[in-house]
Amino acid sequence: MKPSRDRRGDNRSEPSSRAATPAKTHEAGPRPLARRDGPLPHENLPLILEVQPDEDYALLDSGGGEKLEQYGPYRIVRPEGQAIWQKALPAREWQCADAVFTGNIDEEGMGRWRFPKAPLGETWPMRHAGIDYLGRFTSFRHVGVFPEQASHWDHMDGLIRGAGRPVKVLNLFGYTGLASLVAARAGAEVTHVDASKKAIGWARENQEIARLGDRPIRWICEDAMKFAEREERRGSRYDIVLLDPPAYGRGPKGEVWQLFDDLPALADICRSILAPKPLAVVLTAYSIRASFFAIHALMRDTFAGMGGRVESGELVIREKSAGRALSTSLFSRWVAE
Ligand SMILES: C[S@@+](CC[C@H](N)C(=O)[O-])C[C@H]1O[C@@H](n2cnc3c(N)ncnc32)[C@H](O)[C@@H]1O
Repeated sequence: MKPSRDRRGDNRSEPSSRAATPAKTHEAGPRPLARRDGPLPHENLPLILEVQPDEDYALLDSGGGEKLEQYGPYRIVRPEGQAIWQKALPAREWQCADAVFTGNIDEEGMGRWRFPKAPLGETWPMRHAGIDYLGRFTSFRHVGVFPEQASHWDHMDGLIRGAGRPVKVLNLFGYTGLASLVAARAGAEVTHVDASKKAIGWARENQEIARLGDRPIRWICEDAMKFAEREERRGSRYDIVLLDPPAYGRGPKGEVWQLFDDLPALADICRSILAPKPLAVVLTAYSIRASFFAIHALMRDTFAGMGGRVESGELVIREKSAGRALSTSLFSRWVAE
């Protein structure tokens, strides 16, 4: 079993999403779920998707419960509970970091960061494979991007460009929009959904910075489940669906998202809103006490009768200093064949 990132103190959820006792969830009531008929898709697992260091982003070193990363121009130190091994680089390499996450619980936003060399602004220029966007110091140790997702972005980029026809992408839990920008640049029509108004604002800003302002991206601030249900009722259809849900989150109207309770229904809706010749559904999960076998079984059952294959495993980042792999999340994706 892949231990929870919660326990390792590397939760990607925002603080608000760690609220104590959740109220029960979507008003429409539980979606009646039945096992889908038809042969299960082929399977490919375990599949470990690696992000290697490059000029945009590198995991420089890790160890002693911390990680040292290069995000564009800046060297950043953050806690990393999984790094139970020793640092490979000498101390001076860590000491020359530009920003260190302090985790000061009395502070908000930038206050939780220390800038040893010179005070830094909240944002800075970043780039992924030629797409410009903003890195940003947030109060919850995140920096506006999850570099491990690049494996999914590259895969999706290939699917869109290889389709030879218009492709519609739905990006649920889209955060600051990198996946949406990659899809839009590849030529897709994109619908991006996130519950956070702030995140939607950052994503729109990234669209401008990426000079993709003329690309068709709908930015929607809504609860992912509600939006997907509505798309199902309206008969909207997508060729690719991405979903990267937190373990626990809230929609803009307080709707509760609980991964273990709600993912089966959301996955089922994702199947229902696929276009006649869909390309893929890509699920990532993190901060949960589960193995990729669990989401693999869910995805295979959900896409029974659709052909194609379900491949599942982990997203990892390969460290530059000593080549150790840092696991960040579980994934499972259905891909048409
Ligand atoms: C970890 S982020 C996703 C990261 C994104 N896939 C990426 O690679 O940049 C999770 C996002 O889910 C959003 N979220 C949490 N609960 C939600 C809900 N009920 N409906 C829609 N979005 C939600 C949060 O605002 C956050 O932006």
